[in-house]
Amino acid sequence: MTSTVASSPASSAKALEPRTRIAVAGLSKTYGAASRQVTAVDNVSFEVRQGEFVALLGPSGCGKSTILNMVAGLLPKSAGSIRIDADDVEQGLVNRKVGYVFQRDTVFPWRTVEANIGYGLEIAGLPRQQRRDKVESAIETAGLTGFGRSFPRMLSGGMRQRVALMRTLIMEPEILLMDEPFGALDTHTKLEMHKTLLDIWERERQTVLFVTHDLGEALTLSSRIILLSARPGRLKDDFAVGFARPRDAVSLRETPEFARLYTHIWHSLGEEFRRTKAK
Ligand SMILES: Nc1ncnc2c1ncn2[C@@H]1O[C@H](COP(=O)(O)OP(=O)(O)OP(=O)(O)O)[C@@H](O)[C@H]1O
Ligand SMILES: [Mg+2]
Repeated sequence: MTSTVASSPASSAKALEPRTRIAVAGLSKTYGAASRQVTAVDNVSFEVRQGEFVALLGPSGCGKSTILNMVAGLLPKSAGSIRIDADDVEQGLVNRKVGYVFQRDTVFPWRTVEANIGYGLEIAGLPRQQRRDKVESAIETAGLTGFGRSFPRMLSGGMRQRVALMRTLIMEPEILLMDEPFGALDTHTKLEMHKTLLDIWERERQTVLFVTHDLGEALTLSSRIILLSARPGRLKDDFAVGFARPRDAVSLRETPEFARLYTHIWHSLGEEFRRTKAK
């Protein structure tokens, strides 16, 4: 912690900054045994502050999921440190402040939409009526009214992903880790999901670390983009995304500011896509 020296302009500005929620320092990950090792992540450091929406952007295979899984405590790290608030992240320990939305659609096929969304609350032992009220409101927020009793097989991919999103959000996590949650969706459905997520996030302002390889998606949603290099993932750049909020996922893409920042970051990202292809 900083000392309480009389405040200079610089130190008072520091005091006003939102606190750091996720702190990653010197993080590395090497998979495999000695003879066939793959270094997926190499010496990555970054911080995410309270209420920030940070996109972790990089080409396929650069180690994005690996980083997110280590932040979630799902995967052991090879070197470095990860803290969430004051606590070191330890593999295998559940942190109730953290919610995770996976890269693949992970709804339970044998449960209805409402039973999927209410799953975490059920495990937490919330009484039935309170659970029902929360689930009903989540179904409405997700635009799934009328589908509560449906099973996942009766839904489109986008609807299933809404169920997965609400199943995590209903637990009211302060910190949200998302791994390409809309990666498998077509462009139109993806835009619909962006609208839903922007609506929710602009209201709730969770601290978000969102993994993607889609620059348009990162620019639409985030307040900051951390760019990773091709494998092994290293921190390449850090861009502020200052577009005004609330944002409209469709009209934002038609603005000159969006086009300008897209082009600027694309040069840097494009280099990494080419390096990935060349491997
Ligand atoms: N369990 C594992 N064992 C060995 N290597 C792995 C394992 N998981 C991932 N890797 C390797 O680590 C590298 C990074 O993988 P990771 O899944 O983190 O990439 P990613 O950036 O999330 O890619 P994508 O955008 O395609 O999801 C890849 O080269 C991958 O082959
Ligand atoms: Mg991945």
